[in-house]
Amino acid sequence: LDAVAVTRDLTGRSVLVTAGGTREPLDPVRFIGNRSSGKQGVALAMAAAARGAAVTLIAANLEVPLPSGVRCVQVGTTLELQTAVTAEAASADLVIMAAAVADYRPAETAQSKIKKRSDSSTLELRLEENPDILRGLSHDRPREQTIVGFAAETEQDDAALFELGRGKISRKGCDYLVINRVGWTEGFATDSNTVIVINGGGDRVGEASGSKLSVAHRILDLVFAARWHPFITTGDG
Ligand code: CTP
Ligand code: CA
Repeated sequence: LDAVAVTRDLTGRSVLVTAGGTREPLDPVRFIGNRSSGKQGVALAMAAAARGAAVTLIAANLEVPLPSGVRCVQVGTTLELQTAVTAEAASADLVIMAAAVADYRPAETAQSKIKKRSDSSTLELRLEENPDILRGLSHDRPREQTIVGFAAETEQDDAALFELGRGKISRKGCDYLVINRVGWTEGFATDSNTVIVINGGGDRVGEASGSKLSVAHRILDLVFAARWHPFITTGDG
C-alpha cells in the first residue's frame, strides 16, 4: 500500500481525467488498439479525489476496475472520447489527458465479420486520421483552466526523449506534458512508473518515480496545487 500523506488541497476544484486506450473497430469482433492499461490515469483520478476534488474520469477500455468516489464515463473509440471530453471539459479547473488515443481509425467499419481471403495472402487496411483532442482543447478553453498532456515514448536516450517532449508540447499547446518511457516491458500495465514533467516553455519542472499513485500525487503537486497555494513552491526534484 501507498503511504502518501494527503491534504485536502483540491477541495472545491473540478478535475477531469481521461484514462485507458481508445479502440477503433474493424468489424463487430475486432479492433485496432493499444496496450495502455489505464492504471496511471485511474491513479490520478483517485489521488485528485483523495485531495478533495470533484473528479470525472473518462475511461476508455480500462484493464483495471473503475475507481469508487469518482464519476465515471465509459467510452470506446476516439470519437466517443472526444464527445465526452467536450461535454465535460468546460467546467473543469484541471484536465489531464492520460488516455492513449488512437491516431487513426479504419476508414470503413465492416458490419459483419471480415472473412479470411482465399485469393490473397495479404490484407490492406485503410485508416483515416482521428481528431487531436488535446490540441483542440488547448487552443479553445476557458481562462484559468490547466491542461496536462501525456507522452508515452519508446526513445531510450534521455536527451532525445526530452527533445521529443519539447516538440510535442509546442504542437499541442497544453500547459504541461508528462513524459514517460514505454516499451515491450516498460510503462504499460506495470504498477510503477517514471516520468518527467515539462512546462509550455519546454522547461523541466520536475520528475517522479515510484508507484503510479505516488507519481499521480507528485504530478498534481507539480501542475496544479502550487497554482492555488502560493506558499507551496515546486522545486526541481
Ligand atoms: N491525444 C489526443 N488526441 C489524439 C492523440 C493524442 O488528445 N488524437 C493526446 C493524448 O491523450 C496525450 C497527448 O495527446 O495526452 C500526446 O499523445 P501522443 O500520442 O504522444 O501525441 P501525438 O501528437 O499523437 O504524437 P505521436 O506521433 O508520438 O503519436
Ligand atoms: Ca499518438
